Amino acid sequence: MKTEINGETGTIGIIGGNIKKSLSPLLHNELLKYYSLNNCYLPFQISENQIKVIVEWIRALNIKEMNVTAPFKEKIISFMDNIEESAFRVGAMNTVINKNGILWGYNTDLEGFKRSLQVEGKMDIKGKNAIVLGAGGAARAIIYALCEENTKEISIFNRTLDKAKKIQKEYRAFFPNCLLQIFSLEDRIMQDKINHADFLINTTSLGSYPNIDLNPLPENIIIPDYIMAYDLIYNPAKTLFLRKAEKEGAKIMNGGLMLAYQAVESFSLWTGIEPSQKVINKLIRKMNEEIISVN
Ligand code: ATR
Repeated sequence: MKTEINGETGTIGIIGGNIKKSLSPLLHNELLKYYSLNNCYLPFQISENQIKVIVEWIRALNIKEMNVTAPFKEKIISFMDNIEESAFRVGAMNTVINKNGILWGYNTDLEGFKRSLQVEGKMDIKGKNAIVLGAGGAARAIIYALCEENTKEISIFNRTLDKAKKIQKEYRAFFPNCLLQIFSLEDRIMQDKINHADFLINTTSLGSYPNIDLNPLPENIIIPDYIMAYDLIYNPAKTLFLRKAEKEGAKIMNGGLMLAYQAVESFSLWTGIEPSQKVINKLIRKMNEEIISVN
């Protein structure tokens, strides 16, 4: 059904530092249209010193839902009235929900990542071994989700070891049964760890548009064909990392599904509506058409 903009149309949207290529407006506006909700989802490109004002706007204009993307996922936390526990522990959030003037922070990337693996990839991560490349904000969410799903062993490789160390220290306290190991990105143990892993997940920005000829993996690394290679990047749809993994026979997945499922989760938090798998599949098809058209 078509939704016309009129005097009662509500505004929701996303704030970020570089969101001109964001697919969130497409995903959310499709959902709004499908459920005939009289709202319009807009992208707002902002700078760090505007976060405070934006949060005041959310209250003043009674904006019901606002998504948050890089690089503000961590910084915005201190402006919330309440933070859902897992978002607090991860230290990053991507969704503001306005509940009668009280602003709540959530991290729907966790659910987005888990559902992308479970529903589409039909991958159970319980008891498995995972390698995570990167230790930034995205990595923190992925590692937290892996720990929640009882992954047996997680090896984090990052350029800056201190950031990996911080995750290890904090998460060990939350998840004492998960073996968290940390290494520098150049550590020669990487091949051995990859040989014993089920999942190899890139959370770094290396290989994303426009720097598409970068690869987070050192040149000499061989990716075994039994591994699942997952890149959080969705533009390009197949990064150099994924192309290499595919060539070596591994199963591959990009960040498109996670993006779609985190959007669905944010939408559900606000509306209480849980889109059916049929609706979600339609949404994913639309998103993939868009991803392909920009590549
Ligand atoms: P995000 O929220 O997307 O995770 P981020 O917090 O800035 O963004 O994290 C970016 C990740 O990509 C980090 O792991 C970063 O490594 P450092 O912790 O050493 O900064 C990694 N990264 C970015 N550029 C990189 C590069 N040129 N080489 C290696 N790692 C890089």
